[in-house]
Amino acid sequence: MRVSIVLSGLLGFGRLVSSAYTNASVAFTYNRTSFLLHGESYQMIGGQMDPHRIPYQYWEKRLYAARAMGLNTIFSYIFWDQVQPSQDTWDFSGRNNIAEYFRLAQEIGLHIVLRAGPYVCGEHEWGGYPYWLSNIPGMVVRSNNAPFLNASKVYLDRLAEEIRPMLVQNGGPILMAQIENEYGSYGADHVYMEALRDLFYGAFGDDMVLYTNDGGYSEDILNGQIEGILAETDGGPQSGFLARDQYAYASSLGPQLDGEYYITWLDLWASNSTYDTDAGDTTAIESIVSDLSWTLNNGSSFSLYMFHGGTNWGFQNGADWAKALTPVITSYDYGAPLTESGGITDIYLALREMIVDYLGNETLPAVPKNETPIAIPEIALKPVVKLFDILPEPVVADYPTNMEKLGQSHGFILYRHTVTSSVSGILVPGDYPRDRVLVYVNQTRVGIIDSIYQAPAKVNLTLEAGDVLDILVENMGRVNYGPRIPDQIKGIVGNVTMGESILKGWEMYNLPLELPSASSSMSTLELASSSLSNSGPLFYAGMFDVEGEIADTFLHLANWTKGVVWVNGENLGRYWTVGPQQTLYLPGCYLKKEGNEIVVLNLEPSEEMGAVNGVVNRLWGNNPDPDAP
Ligand SMILES: *[C@@H]1O[C@H](CO)[C@@H](O)[C@H](O)[C@H]1NC(C)=O
Ligand SMILES: *[C@@H]1O[C@H](CO)[C@@H](O)[C@H](O)[C@H]1NC(C)=O
Ligand SMILES: *[C@@H]1O[C@H](CO)[C@@H](O)[C@H](O)[C@H]1NC(C)=O
Ligand SMILES: *[C@@H]1O[C@H](CO)[C@@H](O)[C@H](O)[C@H]1NC(C)=O
Ligand SMILES: *[C@@H]1O[C@H](CO)[C@@H](O)[C@H](O)[C@H]1NC(C)=O
Ligand SMILES: *[C@@H]1O[C@H](CO)[C@@H](O)[C@H](O)[C@H]1NC(C)=O
Ligand SMILES: *[C@@H]1O[C@H](CO)[C@@H](O)[C@H](O)[C@H]1NC(C)=O
Ligand SMILES: *[C@@H]1O[C@H](CO)[C@@H](O)[C@H](O)[C@H]1NC(C)=O
Ligand SMILES: *[C@@H]1O[C@H](CO)[C@@H](O)[C@H](O)[C@H]1NC(C)=O
Ligand SMILES: *[C@@H]1O[C@H](CO)[C@@H](O)[C@H](O)[C@H]1NC(C)=O
Repeated sequence: MRVSIVLSGLLGFGRLVSSAYTNASVAFTYNRTSFLLHGESYQMIGGQMDPHRIPYQYWEKRLYAARAMGLNTIFSYIFWDQVQPSQDTWDFSGRNNIAEYFRLAQEIGLHIVLRAGPYVCGEHEWGGYPYWLSNIPGMVVRSNNAPFLNASKVYLDRLAEEIRPMLVQNGGPILMAQIENEYGSYGADHVYMEALRDLFYGAFGDDMVLYTNDGGYSEDILNGQIEGILAETDGGPQSGFLARDQYAYASSLGPQLDGEYYITWLDLWASNSTYDTDAGDTTAIESIVSDLSWTLNNGSSFSLYMFHGGTNWGFQNGADWAKALTPVITSYDYGAPLTESGGITDIYLALREMIVDYLGNETLPAVPKNETPIAIPEIALKPVVKLFDILPEPVVADYPTNMEKLGQSHGFILYRHTVTSSVSGILVPGDYPRDRVLVYVNQTRVGIIDSIYQAPAKVNLTLEAGDVLDILVENMGRVNYGPRIPDQIKGIVGNVTMGESILKGWEMYNLPLELPSASSSMSTLELASSSLSNSGPLFYAGMFDVEGEIADTFLHLANWTKGVVWVNGENLGRYWTVGPQQTLYLPGCYLKKEGNEIVVLNLEPSEEMGAVNGVVNRLWGNNPDPDAP
């Protein structure tokens, strides 16, 4: 491959042409020991921060905070599903205006490392893949598969068009791009990785510096590297560096970069999963500082994963899969130096001190002042409409169809069957529950089958002619990390059975819930509180004003079991009493002084629901799952 590049007359800077190494007019390259920016040695003091997880109104101050801590490089994932929501539509607006994010970074004095996947993991829905890939015949993701590479090419070409002026060779801040993400811990198909390399060169030009990033273990490096492409590792720091020297192709060796130094770890929904952070833990912070100080003094580069995690807005969260589904919580705080709401932590301050020490005389911008969140007094919420009373036109068929085939990415699908002759037994909603299945008979909840459990609850029913069976299936997040599983399809896959009977005759309702289908202008629904438990999902709505200055707040829905919250049309994400997250981040930029509208989809109304208010400090903690099998 290298030979054919040379023969075709293309210069592979940083790949093979050593005379290019010291050429100052080559914007960015590397030699065996250093990254070289305009011919000068460049050490990446990096941190991960993804535009899609931050309100765009806050990009500038988050980037400034990164620079003020001493970072010079932002590592940024791009989520394919966000920018190409359907095969024919592109969205580079709002939080997807990546070019603008990069432009702001440059203005603030930061460089960018592009992590565009196409597979990024990142605890994001399906690792960034758009749902519609599942509808393309012959599609096999993360592999040397024509339909997959074809779709990837369309994405990378369009992304390149969007951000081309931001490449360092065009005077922008983007230094280099990562191919795939830790592929070596998933597969070992070098032909696939080489095909992706060629798509990146095709989209971004042959002078783009590319690299792979794998776990710092022999197998991962052997599996994930591409000959002639810089091989970097993550985790570590030291173990990955030593392993790389031992296992990477000689032509893939270069300056050492710990591509993801884990500050803490992600958090998952479950009664026994706690919020993970090292803030306040002096010993743990000393160990982070010592690792990273070692890395810098070693002449190597790093990227903090995460510098600032932000929020999995709406339904963006992914899930892990080990023995059961473990969905990622709405917050992507990650115990990062800069909190979800932009707060400066003791981790931030300790790292800044270490970096200032290391840099010696370089002046950094001042540490931004912590903004004080506001409290919002109890918001009066009224039930306004039943989800089952505002269903869209159904798709009618003999047997169920999955979410993707119904043209939907995330949210819910309601499957309705009217019983024609008596039937009884355990309800089996397709091959396996995907993911959280609420079961109703005549709109009374009779069971919940939840795939977060290895052995989900069994719902045993006896139904008579005329009974209406409703199966509401929630996509809790497609798996971004875990062993190979056959597919990432949501809704119901296969037939619904009870005992020996296959249930025939379905109405299927698409409920993507991009926007709430209810509003505070609807009149109050009169409900006896005793009818709440086991009722169908209800929308609640209310209005509130902000007293004094507008600022961030954290919404607390005390004792509300599970659901989704929108404020002024922004989907703040899922809440769930199991925790560890007990409040939802509501940034001040989504608020106005007067007439803020809140809408809550309450999946499991109960008599226990407490006050809904805004608090100044996030609440973390776990409650028992009322729906545990
Ligand atoms: C340096 O790079 C520039 C831009 O690619 C090229 O035009 C020039 O010929 C190179 N000079 C040397 C000495 O390689
Ligand atoms: C890489 O470039 C740096 C900066 O010019 C130089 O100090 C270093 O010796 C070079 N390393 C190698 C192996 O050429
Ligand atoms: C690749 O995509 C193009 C349109 O984008 C389509 O015409 C072509 O058939 C696709 N090829 C494969 C192998 O999927
Ligand atoms: C919580 O932990 C217990 C014991 O380790 C385990 O059996 C159970 O499945 C866990 N629950 C969830 C939802 O992860
Ligand atoms: C950096 O660390 C590696 C071991 O991980 C070591 O081999 C190398 O000599 C160190 N380099 C410097 C400049 O300290
Ligand atoms: C830091 O010191 C070095 C060496 O004394 C000098 O070349 C450089 O300009 C100084 N940088 C700043 C930002 O003062
Ligand atoms: C389902 O419930 C019925 C009636 O209570 C009972 O007879 C039957 O054994 C149950 N089936 C299973 C598989 O538990
Ligand atoms: C459900 O509603 C139907 C239609 O009103 C009725 O025939 C049936 O008896 C009801 N079933 C139950 C269990 O209440
Ligand atoms: C569902 O059952 C029908 C009737 O037995 C059968 O024709 C169909 O193939 C089944 N669908 C699946 C996905 O198994
Ligand atoms: C939540 O419910 C429990 C159990 O009913 C009750 O003891 C507690 O006071 C409630 N908390 C709030 C904040 O409403």
